[in-house]
Amino acid sequence: MTQPGQLRLGVNIDHVATVRNARGSAYPDPLRAALLAEQAGADGITAHLREDRRHIGDADIEALIAGLSVPLNFEMAATDEMQKIALRHVPHAVCIVPEKREERTTEGGLEVAREENRLAHYIAPLRAAGCRVSLFIAADIAQVEAAARIGAQVVELHTGAYCDLHHEGKFAERDAELARLREMSALAHSLGLEVHAGHGLTFDTVKPVAALPEVMELNIGHFLIAESIFIGLPAALSEMRRLMDEARA
Ligand code: PXP
Repeated sequence: MTQPGQLRLGVNIDHVATVRNARGSAYPDPLRAALLAEQAGADGITAHLREDRRHIGDADIEALIAGLSVPLNFEMAATDEMQKIALRHVPHAVCIVPEKREERTTEGGLEVAREENRLAHYIAPLRAAGCRVSLFIAADIAQVEAAARIGAQVVELHTGAYCDLHHEGKFAERDAELARLREMSALAHSLGLEVHAGHGLTFDTVKPVAALPEVMELNIGHFLIAESIFIGLPAALSEMRRLMDEARA
């Protein structure tokens, strides 16, 4: 478990469900993976219930709520259906993400600035119910400022572009994106927002993000589940944790 002040690691278990659903089988069980991650030192578990239920399903959310000891971060689109589900379960945290049916993963950040009014009304009952509300946004000044104005407690900065640029070998552009992440985490923190980050992080890309002093939590899924094929989930998680701590030291 993380010590006070230490960077937290949230483990996203969506892609355990992707493997299960690829065959329509009962295994592998996302709750079993979540409990293993919990034992291996995950500070929280993240699961995204998509509108099309392509990976996590409603029964997975029920099982996670009932079975986890660490907090559940429930990722969801800003729809009426998801708001009802969140208000029924009242998870520790909700992270509002944009969602398009045709995308393979959450491709961009939430348009908070353009939808400020709607989102302010949307998150109010979630906050009132006791959920910590996080908005998944690109490292963009207009989005950070709008998130603060509408009363979100957390922003999660989208690290997907930074990771893609790294893997494409576009290092100058990657560094420019990292600079934006650095500036926006400082701005968000100065506006009273808790700062998280995630998407696409790997052993190769995690350290510069983990080193950003305002970032309190990283949410990592696809790479950890993929790496588990080779070294197992506890070892993948321990190595990620080691790199995060090294970056922070
Ligand atoms: N954070 C958010 C808000 C996400 O939507 C996702 C992907 O579901 C992640 C973090 C984790 O991304 P990845 O699976 O690429 O590590």
